[in-house]
Amino acid sequence: MAGPGFGGHPVGPLLLLLLLLPQALVEGPLVFVAVVFRHGDRAPLASYPADPHKEAVAALWPRGLGQLTAEGVRQQLELGRFLRSRYDAFLSPEYRREEVYVRSTDFDRTLESAQANLAGLFPEAGPGRPEAAWRPVPVHTVPLAQDKLLRFPTRSCPRYQELLREATEAAAYRRALEGWADFLPHLENCTGLSLVGEPLRRAWKVLDTLMCQRAHGLPLPSWASPDVLQTLAQISALDIGAHVGPPRAAEKAQLTGGILLDAILANFSRVQRLGLPLKMVMYSAHDSTLLALQGALGLYDGHTPPYAACLGFEFRRRLGDPEEDDEDSGNVTVSLFYRNSTGLPLGLSLPGCPGPCPLGRFRQLTAPARPPAHGVPCHGAPEPASPTATMVPLLAGAVAMLAALCAGLGLLAWRPGCLRAWGDPV
Ligand SMILES: *[C@@H]1O[C@H](CO)[C@@H](O)[C@H](O)[C@H]1NC(C)=O
Ligand SMILES: *[C@@H]1O[C@H](CO)[C@@H](O)[C@H](O)[C@H]1NC(C)=O
Ligand SMILES: *[C@@H]1O[C@H](CO)[C@@H](O)[C@H](O)[C@H]1NC(C)=O
Ligand SMILES: *[C@@H]1O[C@H](CO)[C@@H](O)[C@H](O)[C@H]1NC(C)=O
Repeated sequence: MAGPGFGGHPVGPLLLLLLLLPQALVEGPLVFVAVVFRHGDRAPLASYPADPHKEAVAALWPRGLGQLTAEGVRQQLELGRFLRSRYDAFLSPEYRREEVYVRSTDFDRTLESAQANLAGLFPEAGPGRPEAAWRPVPVHTVPLAQDKLLRFPTRSCPRYQELLREATEAAAYRRALEGWADFLPHLENCTGLSLVGEPLRRAWKVLDTLMCQRAHGLPLPSWASPDVLQTLAQISALDIGAHVGPPRAAEKAQLTGGILLDAILANFSRVQRLGLPLKMVMYSAHDSTLLALQGALGLYDGHTPPYAACLGFEFRRRLGDPEEDDEDSGNVTVSLFYRNSTGLPLGLSLPGCPGPCPLGRFRQLTAPARPPAHGVPCHGAPEPASPTATMVPLLAGAVAMLAALCAGLGLLAWRPGCLRAWGDPV
């Protein structure tokens, strides 16, 4: 009944163990769950000029670049089945609208992913149902420009751009870039792609194209050696780290992943306060969403969430005497899990709160990463009408650095000016 971890195990010895550990937090039944997952396997987002598979794009990816593949559908079905097995005792056997709410970004691949996931979670929405018994499950979304929860207005946010600039001017960042002073021009030469303006982001796009092709059994060009792929992955990690990591990771989170974290906590509080029957909220989103959330939780560890990776928040009633003064939160614990493969999920701990974390403490520890009570900075700013008009150079530091290096080497003519920010959901 208690849900994950208890099903199928002898309960007696476990209870005894818990009784022998009077100081341990005794986790009670599940009361609320929020899961955030990345869409499944997709086609590459783009090609590059020297891509040997460029001409075959229509044949290789019949549904188009950036679209969910059949493999992606299968991965989400599998994730949905995992959620069913984990929450079989918690959720009703069939979808009930007052129990489960599903929200997706307004992309084909995340909307389809949510549907495929739900087909695994709710048998009546699943494949192979007799027609009369088949029922689809609704997925909610909002237009991209209005999505303040799963995508973040970092491009038009001067404060975020300032924070990024600080990151890209840091000594470690510059040292890493210097190390790639030969590699990046080489990459331009091999791909025929200009990296001007956003070298790291574009290097990441090349990596994405190569990884998608490799995942689908296509031969890679000879220059794309394991060493090159590894360097591209390091470049991508540096870029991500600058966006979600130190310096001032908490302030960056307030403008990005902390918004979603705050929404999840607010959602739970509201459910509890009003005694609503809502049990689960599902968010179908992107690796950028998960990375921002990991940043807000202080859990970004340098690895990029693979397709269908899922971060879960489980709220449980806490048994025994709550030790906290805060009545409202002393009786609930939060635990986190991360599932990035088809195996068992990994239990994660919020830094500073090992094990299931009392909700009050969870709130306290995450407060600096959540938006201030008076609202999210930059959320009032209108979306830029023309992307290039109001965009602030993202990698100004990086560009200046590379420009200096490359000017010396006479390799590249830099044309900084029309720079785009990281933050494209992928
Ligand atoms: C680019 O490649 C061409 C031949 O493919 C080579 O002649 C040239 O030296 C390369 N340039 C750089 C900067 O590597
Ligand atoms: C929970 O969050 C979703 C969006 O994330 C929202 O639409 C819904 O109204 C919230 N429910 C409650 C009870 O706060
Ligand atoms: C926790 O306590 C508050 C008030 O003290 C109550 O409203 C709420 O239902 C309790 N939650 C659980 C899960 O027991
Ligand atoms: C899964 O996540 C863990 C923890 O972040 C990481 O060490 C591991 O490499 C990841 N595995 C995959 C397949 O991404």
